[in-house]
Amino acid sequence: METQDTPPVVLIGPMGSGKTTVAKHLAQRLGAGFVDTDDLFVERHGVVADYFAAHGEAAFRDEEEAVIADALARRDLGVISLGGGAVIRSANRDLIKQHGYVVFLDVAEDQALQRLGEGADRPVLAGDPAGNWSRIRQARQAYYTDSAHRVVDTSGLDVEAVATKIIEGY
Ligand code: S3P
Repeated sequence: METQDTPPVVLIGPMGSGKTTVAKHLAQRLGAGFVDTDDLFVERHGVVADYFAAHGEAAFRDEEEAVIADALARRDLGVISLGGGAVIRSANRDLIKQHGYVVFLDVAEDQALQRLGEGADRPVLAGDPAGNWSRIRQARQAYYTDSAHRVVDTSGLDVEAVATKIIEGY
């Protein structure tokens, strides 16, 4: 695959939808470079939960936006997975739709919560992981749908099957 000419696959979706796992697997199958924007954030600013506690969510979203812009400007990446809240900013939504092949990984609530466990490293879930997850998911649903070129329902699918579905539509 020529990452120079082909838009990168950009994975969006709620926390626990398997974005990072699928992205790694997909990148391997495509023989392409991969990055997760949460990992890039951590490289630059340290642990997300600590950053939230020290600087608040607005500062996190500013830095997240910068990280996403940098990732999309790179030419060595075939797959990019985004933090679940990236779509709340219109600048991010516009950028990913313009420069990527955007895939929304849809996920059932129980499956996501099972993956997330106590959600300790997700500050937006703090206090009430299940209640917060479903409230946040509801609030972002239209953003996920509107930002995506493709929606993949991951219910009952393993990582390989999800990657195959993405490749089929790519
Ligand atoms: C967030 C999702 C997290 C991370 C941060 C905020 C969100 O990424 O960016 O904790 O607001 O949905 P994952 O979707 O990879 O868990």
